[in-house]
Amino acid sequence: LDRKVKQNNLEEGNFINYKKMSENLAIVRSRLNRPLTLGEKILYSHLDDPHGQDIERGASYLKLRPDRVACQDATAQMAILQFMSAGLPSVANPTTVHCDHLIEAQIGGAKDLARAIDINKEVYDFLSTACAKYNIGFWKPGSGIIHQILLENYIFPGALVIGTDSHTVNGGGLNALAIGVGGADAVDVMAGLPWELKAPKYIGVKLTGQMSGWTAPKDIICKLAGITTVKGGTGSIVEYFGPGADTVSATGAGTVANMGAEIGATTSVFPFSENMHKYLAATGRSEIGDFARAYAHELRPDEGAEYDEVIEINLSELEPHINGPFTPDLATPISKFSEAVKANGWPEELKVGLIGSCTNSSYEDMTRSASIARDALEHGIKAKAAFTVTPGSEQIRATIARDGQLQTFEEFGGMVLANACGPCIGQWDRQDVKKGESNSIISSYNRNFTGRNDGNPATHSFVASPDMVVAMTIAGSLHFNPLTDKLKDKDGNEFMLQPPTGDGLPNRGYDPGTNTYQAPPKDRASVEVVVAPTSDRLQKLSPFQPWDGKDATDLPILIKAQGKTTTDHISMAGPWLKYRGHLDNISNNMLIGAINEANGEANKVKNAVTGDWDAVPATARDYKSKGIKWVVIGDWNYGEGSSREHAALEPRHLGGLAIITRSFARIHETNLKKQGMLPLTFADPADYDKIKPDDKVDILCTELAVGKPVTMRVHPKNGETFEVKLNQTFNEPQIEWFKNGSALNTMAKKAKN
Ligand code: F3S
Repeated sequence: LDRKVKQNNLEEGNFINYKKMSENLAIVRSRLNRPLTLGEKILYSHLDDPHGQDIERGASYLKLRPDRVACQDATAQMAILQFMSAGLPSVANPTTVHCDHLIEAQIGGAKDLARAIDINKEVYDFLSTACAKYNIGFWKPGSGIIHQILLENYIFPGALVIGTDSHTVNGGGLNALAIGVGGADAVDVMAGLPWELKAPKYIGVKLTGQMSGWTAPKDIICKLAGITTVKGGTGSIVEYFGPGADTVSATGAGTVANMGAEIGATTSVFPFSENMHKYLAATGRSEIGDFARAYAHELRPDEGAEYDEVIEINLSELEPHINGPFTPDLATPISKFSEAVKANGWPEELKVGLIGSCTNSSYEDMTRSASIARDALEHGIKAKAAFTVTPGSEQIRATIARDGQLQTFEEFGGMVLANACGPCIGQWDRQDVKKGESNSIISSYNRNFTGRNDGNPATHSFVASPDMVVAMTIAGSLHFNPLTDKLKDKDGNEFMLQPPTGDGLPNRGYDPGTNTYQAPPKDRASVEVVVAPTSDRLQKLSPFQPWDGKDATDLPILIKAQGKTTTDHISMAGPWLKYRGHLDNISNNMLIGAINEANGEANKVKNAVTGDWDAVPATARDYKSKGIKWVVIGDWNYGEGSSREHAALEPRHLGGLAIITRSFARIHETNLKKQGMLPLTFADPADYDKIKPDDKVDILCTELAVGKPVTMRVHPKNGETFEVKLNQTFNEPQIEWFKNGSALNTMAKKAKN
């Protein structure tokens, strides 16, 4: 294990450290003294402190040292802006940025790409120069989808990878623990802080038998989603094991792991297999494959490893599934699907079939899909529904162009879109149906929430394997079952489609296509990060002010929020996402969804200075301009929802000091601390009711110490001043964050000393 094997072929100096991982694991083993699951082995081998770390599944918080960070272009903007504000010269861990989310599908690959490069120029220029400056690998628009690029180039067996996208979990197909995180977590790791994860539980999925015919890896996860529902994986790592697990190709395992996000799993992982070795060899990484083989005993679960729950799936009996509409866990086997369409009144005509995306665009997927399309063409028929292909990467596109599958798709009537997310993330200028018109589409993607693909809430979006998508596209009807139903050829004669066939890996190797990677230059000091001062999409961040060392007195309550206040209420998505790289502009959505107790309305609060009723962000700005700090009062589980860092950045930017609630969603609480704010909770939750929106408060910040409550003095508008005890969960390092103004300021201070 002492070999020096590089993590990938693109970076110098980043090595795979199986020796260290194995040492860490030995320490943990001697402490726990029980067999470990694969997920436990990979996590514990990345512990920051294997000797001292508390380890209890579902309870303790693990401090981990990930091997790498990946960001997509939408989430990278704020992550990198924050990283820059720390003033560090380069990222502390290997990091890449991938331009895939901002390319809209309109008329076809090349033209759509050119248009996106034009529209998003300022974002791409910023990302490419910032990457060059801070030693980050940059994948230009057109290179492909983040998770496909990671699988082809960066994921290695046993790795711990975090990425600012929920489908980062795709890397589990190559035996990595790859986990989707919020921008704030990515920034921590980029800056060299350990990353914290609640010790997960483990769901073991035992695979027996072997797939054949029309059944594909996608059906494993479609079936599992039906069993667990969208919440069933929450807080858990899903581990596949059993004899069937080794029969799945690495890219097929990637598909299964990818869609683990749809059941809420922290991530999913497959045991190291010979198929993975083959995939590593095919993608130019034989040395990594050999190295992993030497370490293979630690890349599979221990004999007798215990799962919190075990689910068994027999691949020999597994039917193709179609999941949806509107939710990925509504799983229907193909034999029952036609009935379900009728019973539910789903639109029967299929309008569009879409294959590709990060979930399903491997060479295996493309060759199988092309074999079905070719079968139809040989019978003189083409796609009845519209048909699109989003290749997962330039390498996949170039390889299928060389080997003929791409031409088959075009001959079949398909449109090959840019190597990007496209319709999967709603980047789709769909023209064939009007907004509000009920219709059906089917894709090989992973998510099918209302409106996700085309912004039309009446679109019934189904997900399935690419094989099913192509077959249905030929028939143009949701009633078609290729396993039992006949089609008519060009002369009206009946025939049945042959089950798909395909190659797991290209016989002639992959064709890399156009080089779309920008490595960081040797001389990075002279690189200027480009942010136009007039931009409304991007804005450089200045470090937040440190604490002034005093108690804060006479603060107005910006809003006393009533009931559910999620990160969506605090920082709405939708049209605001355009400004996610511009803190000042996006702050105009701060708390506009929260309900004010004073009037039961959203986004209408009374300005304590002027007495005027105004929008929440405008009122906060007025206080800020007058040098007045403010607080928010919140209810239970404040800040639940996605781990959006903007929900913590915005109140800090607009001059807030403390958020005082009955309780917090933990990630939001930590995010607030990172930005130098005080998340505090009522020691007695009933005190929430004693505070009125018109009251003023003093926060005795000087009392802040580990494990001690903080006093809030309340000055009611009419009435006697009283005191309320507030609890807080700051530890020593986090108190430094507050004192220095933010976690990043603290990092910067340390780096200077
Ligand atoms: Fe992109 Fe859709 Fe995957 S948005 S990253 S292709 S889930």
